[in-house]
Amino acid sequence: MSQLKYRRVLLKLSGEALAGEQKTGIDPATVKRICAEIGLVLDMGLEVALVIGGGNIFRGLSASARGMDRSSADYMGMLATVLNALAVQDVLEKLHHPTRVLSAIAMQEICEPYIRRRALRHLEKGRVVICAAGTGNPYFTTDTAAALRGMELRCEAIIKATKVQGVYDKDPQKHADAVMFKRISYSEALARQLGVMDATAITLAQENRVPILVCSMFDGCIQRVVCGEDEGTIVSDETNTPA
Ligand code: GTP
Repeated sequence: MSQLKYRRVLLKLSGEALAGEQKTGIDPATVKRICAEIGLVLDMGLEVALVIGGGNIFRGLSASARGMDRSSADYMGMLATVLNALAVQDVLEKLHHPTRVLSAIAMQEICEPYIRRRALRHLEKGRVVICAAGTGNPYFTTDTAAALRGMELRCEAIIKATKVQGVYDKDPQKHADAVMFKRISYSEALARQLGVMDATAITLAQENRVPILVCSMFDGCIQRVVCGEDEGTIVSDETNTPA
């Protein structure tokens, strides 16, 4: 059995991931599948902080493009992440993994407020810390929230688990000849706008030298990535090599 390469990671899941084939809403079977994948690394003793997007329920940016006030739209998006956080909490706990949902927007009847030192204690105690409501501010994406929480909580890597296997030179779901990178530098990912994460998130990771590991959320990929196996794409300071 492989050994963990990291002690603590920040795992970013897109909201759409929870929708499964139905594209919107929360698909319980898909959430169970994802939580089972997370359970594999929790059972190995990995400390996991989770940030989940909200795009399966509400997309702030597209609502603002359709004329809604950007801040209001973003606040609705942040509330959507809380729904996703509670859904994942429920399933993880049914799988016997202790969790705490910590929200950047206070809603004490539902979950704890995000307090960094408290989040660190929860992680040390082996609880999955699910960071909800983004950064609590409009104009920031959940990618940026993931990078921010990753730095604050001293995570050794940010794992972006997606529907595809890694970072490609073009959209692999549209182009059959898309080539996946095994490694790519932060600057190249930024310059080529490869859609790994948004620019603010990548810059934050770059400035703090925290690698971003992009992989599929299924088939044990997350487990292989945290064991340092050859899986997905690593965005780091080192130069890029196509797969
Ligand atoms: P330790 O102090 O490390 O033992 O952490 P703990 O989370 O087990 O203790 P605490 O007594 O703080 O919390 C017990 C339960 O209450 C946990 O399920 C928490 O998630 C929950 N909880 C704590 N603070 C809040 C809050 O502000 N709002 C809500 N809704 N739940 C809370």
